[in-house]
Amino acid sequence: MERSTFLKSLAGVGVGTLGLSSLSACKTSSSDSSVNPDVMPAHISGAALDFNKIREDFPRTREEVYMDNASTHPINIYTAAALHRYAEWAKNDVGEPWWPKWSETRQECKDSFAKLINADPDEIAFARTTVEAENNILNGMDLKGGNVVTTDLHYAPSLYGYKMREKREGLEVRIIKHNDWKFDAKDFEGVIDKNTKLVAITLVSNVNGFLVKDVRAIADLAHANGALLYVDIIQGVGAVPVDVKAMGIDMAACSTFKWLMGSKGFGFMYVRKDLQDTRVLPTQHHGGLNFNYGPWTDSPDSALGEFDFKPTTGPAMYEVSYPSYEGVSCAITSMKYIHTLGVENIRNYVRTLTSRLAIEMPKIGYPMITPEGNESPIIVFQAKDPEGAMKKLRAAKINVAMRFGNKLRLSPSIYNNQADIDRILETLS
Ligand SMILES: Cc1ncc(COP(=O)(O)O)c(C=O)c1O
Repeated sequence: MERSTFLKSLAGVGVGTLGLSSLSACKTSSSDSSVNPDVMPAHISGAALDFNKIREDFPRTREEVYMDNASTHPINIYTAAALHRYAEWAKNDVGEPWWPKWSETRQECKDSFAKLINADPDEIAFARTTVEAENNILNGMDLKGGNVVTTDLHYAPSLYGYKMREKREGLEVRIIKHNDWKFDAKDFEGVIDKNTKLVAITLVSNVNGFLVKDVRAIADLAHANGALLYVDIIQGVGAVPVDVKAMGIDMAACSTFKWLMGSKGFGFMYVRKDLQDTRVLPTQHHGGLNFNYGPWTDSPDSALGEFDFKPTTGPAMYEVSYPSYEGVSCAITSMKYIHTLGVENIRNYVRTLTSRLAIEMPKIGYPMITPEGNESPIIVFQAKDPEGAMKKLRAAKINVAMRFGNKLRLSPSIYNNQADIDRILETLS
């Protein structure tokens, strides 16, 4: 196909035009030929909002109950179409110009994420993963001689990083233990002190779904002592409202394969503008370098040195090399879907599922370790016989997580429904 013809076909028509045999092989609906990743369906907004139709956007729901979105959220058919469009471009059309039309929207991707967390676009850098971004933030801070305050509900592989810094660099790490599976700002009083450089928390715990309610109060305490607040938002963003300004968050990170319904290995890092290159330095570098001498140039500029090097400014200073194009393609479409649907609508719908689980699961012998009235999409119960429970669930084609021994983690999303919950309850009763 001629390049121009191909681009025209990308611009205006559904991906079905591109011959999507692989999409149908992944159980997409019969209407896939009309799926256009750039046009959101009517049923995700306004008066037409229809969660039965939303269910059809996630074809996986047809054959099983998938309620492990806290591990990995499936992508919807629009995001799948975007990914397929990328694959077609990568297969048939890479080369100059380097960026296909639709990928010129990399900034749109950052803008969309910024809007989701109420940041400014120039506070957002692409990142590879949450934990890598957290490591980059830590490496860029001056933590010498100070302490870091965190909790045992912070993501454990991140806590590993703090313990490693304690071992190798003598960083003092203060880990607040949860109090009946939750904590609040009071637990930080007396632990954060004038030597605290950083407070690090996870907004929604992957262990029990605990959503930190008083982030602002924790931020105020950190700031009053001259410390900064980092928040791991991966289990929250897209599922619950996140407002970095209102919450007083200084730095945050997430990747896109959970509640942003995108891909693994691609995400975002937020660094408050005034902290960029001041209290959070870039620790990996990438940028332009011109050689201002022959034979590199016929007309060296005497006003410049031999090596014309200008440090990158803005959040791009934290980025190295190309972002993942697959990641950008998925995230643009999946965040468009989330914005159109509305995070409040997402949370309100998912609450109807988690609140029923909170009432019914304890009645059949599964006590809950998620605090009552918690507003996250993750709800966790203790199983007396974890192996037996998982055996029954798998046999009934119910896909959930059993973690940390006996913790049965259910994490419903917008495509799950009450029938899914009936099936879980019947299977475990
Ligand atoms: C709270 C939390 N943080 C971080 C991660 C890891 O994410 P990433 O692969 O983006 O580092 C997970 C994934 O399970 C998680 O639950």
